[in-house]
Order: sequence, then C-alpha cells, then structure tokens
Amino acid sequence: MHHTPDTAPGCPAHPAAAAPPAPALFTWEFGADPYPAYAWLREHAPVHRTELPSGVEAWLVTRYADARQALADARLSKNPVHHSEGAHGKGKVGIPGERSANLMTHLLNIDPPDHTRLRRLVSKAFTPRRVAAFAPRVQELTDALIDGFAARGEADLIHEFAFPLPIYAICDLLGVPREDQDDFRDWAGMMLRHTKPGGTGGGPRGGVAKAVKKIRGYLAELIHRKRAVLPPEPAPDEDLISGLIRASDHGEHLTENEVAAMAFILLFAGFETTVNLIGNGTYALLRTPDQRELLQKSLAAGDREVLTTGIEELLRYDGPVELATWRFATEELTLGGERIAVGDPVLVVLAAADRDPARFDAPDTLDLRRTDNPHLGYGHGIHYCLGAPLARLEGRTALATLLTRLPDIRLAADPEELRWRGGLIMRGLRALPVEFTPAP
Ligand code: HEM
Repeated sequence: MHHTPDTAPGCPAHPAAAAPPAPALFTWEFGADPYPAYAWLREHAPVHRTELPSGVEAWLVTRYADARQALADARLSKNPVHHSEGAHGKGKVGIPGERSANLMTHLLNIDPPDHTRLRRLVSKAFTPRRVAAFAPRVQELTDALIDGFAARGEADLIHEFAFPLPIYAICDLLGVPREDQDDFRDWAGMMLRHTKPGGTGGGPRGGVAKAVKKIRGYLAELIHRKRAVLPPEPAPDEDLISGLIRASDHGEHLTENEVAAMAFILLFAGFETTVNLIGNGTYALLRTPDQRELLQKSLAAGDREVLTTGIEELLRYDGPVELATWRFATEELTLGGERIAVGDPVLVVLAAADRDPARFDAPDTLDLRRTDNPHLGYGHGIHYCLGAPLARLEGRTALATLLTRLPDIRLAADPEELRWRGGLIMRGLRALPVEFTPAP
C-alpha cells in the first residue's frame, strides 16, 4: 500500500517509545473509523502528500488552524483547470460526469468574480425566509416517512428515512413537480450506489455519471417549460428554478447552463450531505445513551436548546462531509510548513480538523451541550455551505421527530457489522437497521 506516510518518527532502537506505525488510509477499515488515522496525521504529518486510490496525488490537511486557513486562501482555486495533471479530463477529480453533462459552471468549481456573481444571484432565490417558510412541509414529509414504518417495529433508517427526506425537500424547493419526484429519487439512488474506498472504481463513478446525465436532461426540459410560463411578476411562493430564471444581477441574466448547473449543485450538495447528517447523527446518538437521554428529556420538556447545539455537535463529531471538495494551488505556497507547488491538489480533511485537540476540549467526546464549537462541517470562507439553514431545519426536524415518536428506538445490528460508503468526500452509512416498539 503506498497510501501510508513513509516516515514514522520514533527511534528504532527503542520500539516501546516509538510512535505507533503510520496508518493505512482509504481502506475499508479506515472507512469504518478514520479518526485514529487522522489523529496520527494531525500529530506526525499534518500537511501530508499522498496518492489517492484513484492514482491522483493530493495534500491532506488535518489540523484545525491549517484547515481554516486553507479553506479561506484565495491562492487555492476551486477550478479544476488549475490542476497540474489535468486529471479532471480523465474523470478523477470532481463530480463524475459533470463535464460531459455540461454542468461545470457551478459554485464548487469556480472562483471570484464568477463565484461572487452566481452566489449573489442564488442567495436572492435561496433566502432564510424561504427556508423558514418551508418548515411545515419538512415536518409533514418527516411524519409521512415515519408513518411508513412506525407500525412495523423495525426499519432501515437510511433507505426509508434519511435518503428520501432531503430528495423530496430539495425537489419541492427547486420546483420539480410532485409527479416527477420519484424519478429524482431513482437517479439519486443511482448516485448513492456502492463505492469503493477512496471513491474510485469504474462501476460506481459510471453509475453516478449516468444519473448525472439523466438529471441534466430532465433539468434542461424543466427549465425550458418554466421559462415559457414565467409570469411577469413573481408569486410570493415562487419556486427556486423560476427564481433563478428570473434572477438578474445588474440586468444580467443567468445562462441556461448556469441555471441548470446551479439547480444541479443544489441537489448534489444538498442531498447526500443531509442523508448523512441524519444517518451519522442518529447512529452517534444511539451509541451514546447518556447524550440521547439528555436530548430526549429536553425535547419532552419542550426545550429546543440541546437540539440546537446538539445538531452542531453531531456535525463536528461525525459530520457528513469528511473532506472538503478539491482545491488547486494557483501559486506556490507554504501550508503547515510544507511547500505546495503550483497545480497541486489540496484536500482539507474537515473530519480531522473538527477533532483537533488544539481547538476542541475532549474532541472525541460527543457533548450535545458544547457551545464553544466553531466546527468546519459546513466549510469556511466564500464557499461556506449555502444550504446550511435548510440542512439545520431538516436535521433538527428529523432527529426530534424520530426520538419523540419512537422513544425506545435502538440499533438492530452490531456496530461492527455496519458498512460505510467508500466515497472520498462524504462519510455515511450504507444502512442503519433499527428496532423499536411499534407505534400507531
Ligand atoms: C448537513 C448537511 C450539509 C453539510 C454538512 C454541508 C456541507 C457543505 C460544505 C462543507 C461545503 C463547502 C465545501 C468546500 O468548501 O469544499 C458546502 C457547500 C455548499 N453546500 Fe452544503 N452541506 C449540507 C447541506 C446542504 C444543502 C441542504 C444544500 C442545498 C440545498 C447545500 C448546498 C451547498 C452549496 C450550493 C454549496 C457550495 C457553495 C459555494 O461554493 O459557494 N448544502 N456544503
């Protein structure tokens, strides 16, 4: 395996005093629990060059201070044209199929001034008010999904709950008609297919690329249909795609490609992330009885405070985005004492930064009441998660409703048996079997 740091500090003459050996990265074992390996990297190789399973070489940044600096560093571009190896052309960097589907001009692939212009436009259509007005619909969706399995006394929380909730929510926000939403559910399911460690392998990337192509075709047609019937003045509850078509910046409208890429990235960035917030979050709670009890008691007392700080803690403790998306050095720079050359890819390991003992007290402890918690789970800087208010709304509604309606919910599998998806960027379970007293 050439994915391991090649120099382990420690004196070979005194093996008892030596540091533990360098960990293997991107294996199945690593996928099940990457935190010990990240602790090793933070301590011994905080900015570490490694070869990913795809063959691409990249720097992994694991300390909180370095991570925060890198996320906000304008010398690190999001545009894959800056990658020295031009690996995007070979489909090894970024979202599979996005180039061939003509979806490259989205927020996570561009820098200012284009990023500033597009982000301002979408912020107009994606306002906190629109999200707040959406709360009753999220509650309704959540209850309907729980109704689907409550009487059975057991369920797979990923497939029956965490997976459909964000799909229907985003479809509603975008303005995808209800009768088309199950197609979206199928395409999203294709994206979630089995992946190998490190997010490689022709099968899964091929599957994702196919789903991306289908979504692109559908969006083109939907945008065309909506443009044809767009009223001169917006209705108060205008959907997001119509809002994007209408939105203009100093009179400059988005191109059809930009509208499609924006709708696509909202779906892509807002879907698997939320699945994993609900999945990883529930899993962490079910494995930490005192914290779960604390939350249940506070909810029963009508207090939402533990829920509010708790969601942030679950994002820090085992968040959905393990590594931030790709960045490429546009000039030579020094990070954590390492020299990063022009064109080098940099991957900020959010999951490692958020367990850095230099920033967080008792970082490996789940503490739902933690208030000093500036975690990087939503990123940092100009690419900070646009959908954070929606994610928080969905996460809070899902967890609070689940723990209230199914109060004795518990794991129905040995944690050792659970399998994690192998994607490079996201961290989440493939299935989460639970059982509970059947509820009406
Ligand atoms: C718990 C759920 C979520 C988490 C943990 C999450 C996390 C993140 C992170 C870490 C980034 C920055 C990536 C980087 O800098 O490399 C990001 C960006 C983004 N997120 Fe989220 N996200 C979540 C939910 C959502 C939702 C629900 C939406 C929208 C419907 C969304 C839309 C976006 C968009 C559009 C960007 C790109 C912003 C930009 O480049 O300016 N996210 N998210």
